[in-house]
Order: sequence, then C-alpha cells, then structure tokens
Amino acid sequence: MTNNVIKFLIDGKEYLAKNGTFIIDVARESGIFIPTLCNIPGIKPRGSCRMCTVSVNGRYMSACTTPISEGMDVRTNTPDLIDLRKAILEIMFVEGNHICPVCEKSGNCDLQALGYRYQILVSRFPHQYPKRTIDALNPHLIKDHNRCILCKRCIRTIKDEQGRGFFAFHKRGHKIEISIDHSMNELLTEEVAQRAVDICPTGALLKKESGYQTPISNRKYERTPIGSDIEHAHQ
Ligand code: SF4
Ligand code: FES
Repeated sequence: MTNNVIKFLIDGKEYLAKNGTFIIDVARESGIFIPTLCNIPGIKPRGSCRMCTVSVNGRYMSACTTPISEGMDVRTNTPDLIDLRKAILEIMFVEGNHICPVCEKSGNCDLQALGYRYQILVSRFPHQYPKRTIDALNPHLIKDHNRCILCKRCIRTIKDEQGRGFFAFHKRGHKIEISIDHSMNELLTEEVAQRAVDICPTGALLKKESGYQTPISNRKYERTPIGSDIEHAHQ
C-alpha cells in the first residue's frame, strides 16, 4: 500500500481509497447509496442539508464533507441514521409548502424521491404552512419560495463566464431566502434557466412556458427509485 492509499471500513467491509477522498465519493463508487440533497459531485461540498449523515467511529458526520482516514469505521445505514434522515426530510416537508401532486417537478424531484425511499407518510412535526411568494419576474425562470430547501446548489453552480452568480441570499435569519438576482436578468438565458432547473433538487426553480414536457409516469424517479443507479451499478 502506498502512503497515498488508506484502508477503512464501510458497513463492516474493508475498502481502499486515496487519502482525502470524501466518504460520499467512495460510497458512490462502491455501490453504496448515501442520500444527498445539497451535494453535487465534482463541486466543493458545503454540508448544509445533513441528509448524508453517517456514523464515523460512533460519531455523526456528513459524508460529503468528511474525508476518509486510515482505520475509519463508517456506518451508513443503521436504524438511528435512517430515523435521523427521516426526521431531516420531515422537517423539510413541514417547513415549506410541498404539494407534490401539483408540482411540475413531481417524479423528477430528489426531495420527493427521498420521501418515498424513506417511506414518509406523515411528519412527526407540525406543518408550518409558511406564507411564501412566487417570483415570476424573470422571462425564463420561476422561483417558487414555497419549495426551496435552501440547499444552495443554484448559488454555488449557476454563474456567468466571469463567475458572477445568478442567485443570491435575500433577507436574514429564519426569513432567509435564495432569490434570482434580477440585475442579472439580461444574461439569464433559456439555457441558464434550464441548467438551474436541472440542478435544483426540488420544484423551486421551474422554466417558464415548458410545463409537463416529460409526461407523468415517464419521469426519472417514476422509472427508477432514487439511489438504484448507484446500487445496481455494482451488483
Ligand atoms: S432554488 Fe433549488 S437549488 Fe436553489 S437553494 Fe432552493 S432548492 Fe436549492
Ligand atoms: S449532502 Fe451532505 S450535507 Fe447535504
């Protein structure tokens, strides 16, 4: 074994990987599904949603921000972790207004797909029914604050050639929102709008004038449950 390659355990099985690799990446490459919402492969992780929480030598850590180290004992799927992930999802569902049957992203939504994967029928937390707005000022893109889980994927990835973002934080504290920066509207082309829709894990960003182009029953997670691509690739 070179200095660069280390040995560790995931769910009791021994793996080797390059020092510094994030747990989430080793898991993905090894056919182990760890749920994520804010993580984007290849982009610097932010660790904001906590969906990818795993147990590392008995401590909860986020798999997307924790690099593996020699001798680590990682557990990805204990009953405690499953319950924690369910609780995180339930909080997301009650904090916003997620009405899946009337959402254009239904069937393509990571949040909804994780709800199915973790068999969430009702939340243990009370629904908050917050009053939120829908911003339809941009010619190509709608921002529905009711469905935004503040994962920041749009802020971190949708930028122009100079690196200026099309999205920005707005308001503070518990009222914090992620909004379209309308000073960038002229540069926000249809192509940029489509990239934003594709990177958003919920229906918070939708393209104007293009609803239901993929028929219901023919959408991503209606065809294959979330995580099955990772799990089946290694069977
Ligand atoms: S709009 Fe979508 S991508 Fe952006 S923060 Fe909200 S949920 Fe995440
Ligand atoms: S996916 Fe790791 S914290 Fe969000």
